[in-house]
Amino acid sequence: MMKYPGWTVVLFSGLLAAAAACAAAENGANVVLTLHTNVNGPVISRHIFGQFAEHLGRGIYEGIWVGPDSPIPNTRGIRNDVVTALKALHVPNVRWPGGCFADEYHWRKGIGVANHRPATINANWGGVTEPNTFGTHEFMDFLDQIGARAYLSVNVGSGTVQEAADWLEYLTAGPPDALGAERAANGHAAPYQVAFVGIGNESWGCGGNMRPEYQADLHNRYATFLNNGALRVASGDGTGNDHLIDVLMERSIGQMDALTLHYYTIPGDWTKKGSATGFDAAAWAHTLKLARGIEPRIEAIEALMDKRDPQRRIGLFVDEWGTWYDTEPGANPGFLYQQNTLRDALVAALTLDVFQRHTDRVRMTSIAQMVNVLQAMVLADGRRMALTPTYHVYDMYKPFKGATPLKIRLSTTRWQRGEDDLPAVDASVARTADGATVVALVNLDPERPAHVRTNLKGEFRGSILTAAKMDAHNTFDQPHAIEPAPFSARAGAEGWTLDLPPKTVLVVSAPVRH
Ligand code: AHR
Repeated sequence: MMKYPGWTVVLFSGLLAAAAACAAAENGANVVLTLHTNVNGPVISRHIFGQFAEHLGRGIYEGIWVGPDSPIPNTRGIRNDVVTALKALHVPNVRWPGGCFADEYHWRKGIGVANHRPATINANWGGVTEPNTFGTHEFMDFLDQIGARAYLSVNVGSGTVQEAADWLEYLTAGPPDALGAERAANGHAAPYQVAFVGIGNESWGCGGNMRPEYQADLHNRYATFLNNGALRVASGDGTGNDHLIDVLMERSIGQMDALTLHYYTIPGDWTKKGSATGFDAAAWAHTLKLARGIEPRIEAIEALMDKRDPQRRIGLFVDEWGTWYDTEPGANPGFLYQQNTLRDALVAALTLDVFQRHTDRVRMTSIAQMVNVLQAMVLADGRRMALTPTYHVYDMYKPFKGATPLKIRLSTTRWQRGEDDLPAVDASVARTADGATVVALVNLDPERPAHVRTNLKGEFRGSILTAAKMDAHNTFDQPHAIEPAPFSARAGAEGWTLDLPPKTVLVVSAPVRH
């Protein structure tokens, strides 16, 4: 047996597992996970593991870009430690340059000789100087270094159709196109590839405060001239506005391949969002409850989309999601820098599980954001870098990319804290292309273990992420305070049983068919 603080994992012993199960059942949850062999929808798109990198706070500058003359090890100005970390995650795509920033970004200011580029003001995020030293070529170089595809957000709010169309042409055209030639003169002869084009962002707010009807018409104009093979993404809902979805589906259905949902988990309100660390069990429960609220919102949008697109051609791209807390004390409030704890790891896992239950609509998502902003993968400060618990969940969930979800029945007891009532356990099971079964289990209860019985057979290996404290997190001084530990277990005759420790994410695979 392998001992973790306060709990026990049974390794390779069905008998011991059964004994531990009885003990756990007395003071923990009882859960039965039944796997059915039939599949549940299309494969899990690898693009649901996409990321978002906005010109916001220290997300791009310091977080990704340090410049070629920096003493911080870098390749053409892009920091090597961050690239190594993100490359290991196999990030499928990166959304850039915003967010709200996209609707004030003029791409021409970010090309050409770096020290000739004009400085501008980042009006949305702290009013700081935007040096434009990280522009189109630097972004594409970054993608190349981490092995990701481009999701470009074009400026609809303060830009023009011509400006957006020129940008795409600049990126993708070959000779004899003049914009392609300009790109070549700026150092990149081969056309770049752009996988996704986001047409605007949060049209109801920072993207231009538009009426849905006006936005749909404007979207159609942009989409008409951005029709060169990249998937065209309409800016959708973020405020629970069904009418906006209806209008886009009615008026723009022929001019889009996807529409978006933004969904943030904010445990308080906009004036006091709640602290990223030092919270109590009630805040833990409330945060997880809110995070799980993304599923009914996705279902409501799916129902609206189904009315006009029953074949489900159009995707739902959740291109901003994650936790949003009060900025860390001492940080610029406009920079949205927050710590990231075990609670965020559970939010990530629960949300990925939701996406995996909705593969026939949810084909791309972007967690907000990649480095140093909101629910980040990586925190970086000067020379130092720390991977967050959210990063570790993304790493653990890698086997789900391209796998086919399997139908499960999950019977779980529930637990309550204050007004919030939650299931003890959430789960997701899929079959990989090479026939392995991959299982994710999350114990949401911060105090009690869950006794999980399954009909899964065979030997499972993977990793488990948990800690003694709910707000366990990594710092620059202690970057390994919370990390996944290896986990393995073998099924007994009746199937695989285990005691899932409190506040845990577990992902395991069995290389055999069941
Ligand atoms: O991710 C931070 C901001 O949140 C984005 O810029 C905006 O689209 C959203 O409101």
